Amino acid sequence: MKYLLLFEELKIKKTKKIFRHLDDGKGGAEAILGTIDDTNDITAGEGGTDDTIGFLGDILKRLVKRFGLKTKVKYIDSGSFGMAFGVGDNKVIKLTSNKGEAMIAKDMLGKKIPHCVNYYDVVVVKGYGVYAILMDRAEMFDSDTEEVVDTMVDMNISQCTLKEVKKRSGSDLGDNKIKKIVDDYIKMYKALTKNKVSLQDLHTGNMGYLDGKMVHFDMMGSSSYRDISKIKVKK
Ligand SMILES: Nc1ncnc2c1ncn2[C@@H]1O[C@H](COP(=O)(O)OP(=O)(O)OP(=O)(O)O)[C@@H](O)[C@H]1O
Ligand SMILES: [Mg+2]
Repeated sequence: MKYLLLFEELKIKKTKKIFRHLDDGKGGAEAILGTIDDTNDITAGEGGTDDTIGFLGDILKRLVKRFGLKTKVKYIDSGSFGMAFGVGDNKVIKLTSNKGEAMIAKDMLGKKIPHCVNYYDVVVVKGYGVYAILMDRAEMFDSDTEEVVDTMVDMNISQCTLKEVKKRSGSDLGDNKIKKIVDDYIKMYKALTKNKVSLQDLHTGNMGYLDGKMVHFDMMGSSSYRDISKIKVKK
């Protein structure tokens, strides 16, 4: 089949995982592939997963060219609205059906905000109704770190002390390790609020480490957060 050939040509890895996620009804995979499918009206009543995946391959091929990348593309995972693909060693192409997410990413272009990944390009994929975002690839947390960060995401930042985080997370990590994660998180949190980055979608699927710093990516929603680094206490 023509489009599947294109897909193989690009050597997209983990295609089986895409099929599995689609079967499982994962939101992001359904949203992206559904949008591509609807836009092309290729299935005309019958399910056409193979064709849709083929179109996805076509889109990625065009994106890799547009972004000036020559490396292989590997499917990482899907979330609620999108699908993430690793390109080369250190970049991610995020496909999203969410215009708001694309607009925020566009706004981030060229800005070097500490503790945020760099954004390099945002395009709308003409004819397919999806947006593509090129950004840095962060290293995702290991399960121990994730447990600790997960706990803090649900806490008020002022409560994030070693003692409290240790108690609430029940983490088996040593104090020094927990302390480092707490410090890294607070540093990131302060930088984000200072730069008025929305924390609405701050969760462990949208965080990781980059160059030794904890970073946030996939920002969504408007920033209603006060810059806590500037809060003055009345005397
Ligand atoms: N810039 C990135 N660096 C490293 N991993 C990433 C990056 N972007 C996405 N990923 C990985 O791909 C997965 C899927 O990303 P996606 O944004 O589609 O979903 P999510 O973050 O899990 O959920 P949500 O839809 O709430 O953002 C993430 O869980 C993460 O593991
Ligand atoms: Mg995400």
